[in-house]
Amino acid sequence: MKVTVVGAGAVGASCAEYIAMKNFASEVTLIDIKEGFAEGKAMDLMQTASLMKFDTKITGTTNDYSKTAGSDVAVITSGIPRKPGMTREELIGINAGIVKSVVTSLIEHSPNVIIIVVSNPMDTMAYLAHKATGLPKNRIIGMGGALDSARFKFRLAEALGCPQSDVDGMVIGGHSDTGMVPLIGKAARNSVAVSEFLSEERMQQVVEDTKVGGATLTKLLGTSAWYAPGAAVSSMVQAIACDQQKMFPCSALLEGEYGLNDISIGVPCIIGKNGIEKIVEIELSDAEKAKIHESAEGVKKTNALLG
Ligand code: 2OP
Repeated sequence: MKVTVVGAGAVGASCAEYIAMKNFASEVTLIDIKEGFAEGKAMDLMQTASLMKFDTKITGTTNDYSKTAGSDVAVITSGIPRKPGMTREELIGINAGIVKSVVTSLIEHSPNVIIIVVSNPMDTMAYLAHKATGLPKNRIIGMGGALDSARFKFRLAEALGCPQSDVDGMVIGGHSDTGMVPLIGKAARNSVAVSEFLSEERMQQVVEDTKVGGATLTKLLGTSAWYAPGAAVSSMVQAIACDQQKMFPCSALLEGEYGLNDISIGVPCIIGKNGIEKIVEIELSDAEKAKIHESAEGVKKTNALLG
């Protein structure tokens, strides 16, 4: 199993590190436009192999896509991250051109590749990848919901005063500060609805804290987060590599599901060796349906900027 990670910045390097440490991939190729950067990150990571006990071969290349040839999965993290106070949508001007060029180069050398888009504004970048490549829709996946759900679980556990292993929760909708839809009504502590433990007010605080999870970290760090994004996308790569048939909320191209068309937005998906194996249409309350449709309106506005 060969994985290419485009962009050797913090998110890409974290993703490569987590993939290597999970030891399910034979090879990870890091590629970046900055001279020597990917090579350096790859060498530094490889020098942890004897310590972290992994056999994955990590290599780096400066913008030579022939070195990515034969990739089974490619993760796109390239582009500029946001600064404090910026929205993800403000990155579109620069990142759209980068993502379009990257997907074209990837497919030229790996015609069967499954692409996972992380670059922001992610739902729009995933939509752009669909339009630019014409790949079957199961082979282009946007990573946002897996990260947002991890942040949701962090906030739920914080509110409940319990370990994160005791909670479950999912975030669907757009990967944006205003468009996310944390499904608080479905969140559970060991199968028991969190409403049994938390007041309405506290549950809403969890929802709001989740929605701005990325912006909160950008304010603290001065740039976008990288550990949790890297970990989230590495879990999706593993689900593909090991054909786990695991359900993640992912940005998927919808053709009528949830009453939405011609948009890539976060919905529950079964992820396996073919990428998106199935889009799962779950029961949503009227309020949840209204929220995902409102979120879709926001994503479509950003998509319109691609024109
Ligand atoms: C985040 O929310 C980078 O969009 C990513 O941290």
